[in-house]
Amino acid sequence: MGSYKIAVLPGDGIGPEVVAEAVKVLSIVGKKFHHSFDLRYADFGGAAIDSSGVPFPPATQDVCMSSDAVLFGAVGGPKWDTLDPAIRPEKGLLALRKAAGAFANLRPAKLFSELADACYLRPDIVANGIDILVVRELIGDVYFGEPSGIEVRDGERVGFSNMIYAEHEIRRVAEVAFETAMKRGKRLCSVDKANVLAVSRLWREVVTEVAKGYPEVELSHMYVDNAAMQLVRNPAAFDVIVTGNLFGDILSDEAAAITGSIGMLPSASVGGANTPGLYEPVHGSAPDIAGQNLANPVATILSLAMLLRYSLNLSAEADAVEAAVAAVLAAGYRTGDIYRDGMKRVGCTEMGQLIADRV
Ligand code: NAD
Ligand code: IPM
Ligand code: MN
Repeated sequence: MGSYKIAVLPGDGIGPEVVAEAVKVLSIVGKKFHHSFDLRYADFGGAAIDSSGVPFPPATQDVCMSSDAVLFGAVGGPKWDTLDPAIRPEKGLLALRKAAGAFANLRPAKLFSELADACYLRPDIVANGIDILVVRELIGDVYFGEPSGIEVRDGERVGFSNMIYAEHEIRRVAEVAFETAMKRGKRLCSVDKANVLAVSRLWREVVTEVAKGYPEVELSHMYVDNAAMQLVRNPAAFDVIVTGNLFGDILSDEAAAITGSIGMLPSASVGGANTPGLYEPVHGSAPDIAGQNLANPVATILSLAMLLRYSLNLSAEADAVEAAVAAVLAAGYRTGDIYRDGMKRVGCTEMGQLIADRV
């Protein structure tokens, strides 16, 4: 029996809808396993811009940093797209990740056998399943590199962003990737663009140095364009992928799609010293389906399972949540994004309830 503080940031669009379902599941976990979860809700993203003018207000930062973990939905939407980039919802998310020092973003892309029919790839390509972990560096790269901006040079506008990594930033995320590979299939593929980019040549050098400490892990290097192709051509060839912030953003959406839907993919962002882990679905605020009870809450519910496992050390509880998700899929329930003929179509709230009932 434990007592835990969880910061809950619903955010925008479908964020509040999917977070509400994860909270439903969490309260059942609390009852079944006799834990008390102190849920501390805070404004974030567009919702925070509306209430206080900035996407990541100091009060929200205080709530996050004094919690054991942060559960987050999604931010952004057309309403805020024309604002000054410095105060847009997405900037708040980058600031949260930076404040938490969360340099390692773990994005597991697993094809549930029950969902093989929702996969976009040919059955023979996925016959052996898909089980990939993308380790994406999260607080460096072109996302944060300076200088960056738009300015007039020689009478025309010039836009620039700086893709930059210091070796300590590469080393620490590589170490996380090797450690995780040791606990899985012991195969690590480092993805870069070293044939063109200087920053990638350093990336490859540092990852190769870190590999010396992990002789049991089979390390390979792949250019990002080829990796994008191999992910759909032969996804079973991958175990753990480690890559930078921008390449990881793109490849993890691709990995999500090959497992059926981006509505299925959870993530954990960790690495900070004495800061909480951040747990969020890989998808965004999906303005096209917001407010219609259409969103798939599974990515957020699986993110909650990662929170229980990694930040609270509650692995039996995490197992119970994951098993409940698998049981509901096995029983044929599907939200629209993973629906196929003959299945039972349900909305976001029904899906959340079905999973909560099976914990
Ligand atoms: P998106 O992930 O929000 O949506 C892409 C497509 O996937 C849409 O068709 C959407 O309906 C669908 N989708 C996403 N999540 C789903 C779910 N749970 N269930 C069913 N279908 C789902 O990406 P986008 O449309 O490029 O971005 C929309 C907004 O979200 C933008 O403002 C963007 O900046 C923001 N965004 C935020 C995050 C985040 O908060 N972590 C991540 C990505 C995008
Ligand atoms: C994600 C999103 C974010 C990112 C955006 C919204 C800042 O796409 O979490 O994958 O690029 O990291
Ligand atoms: Mn993304």
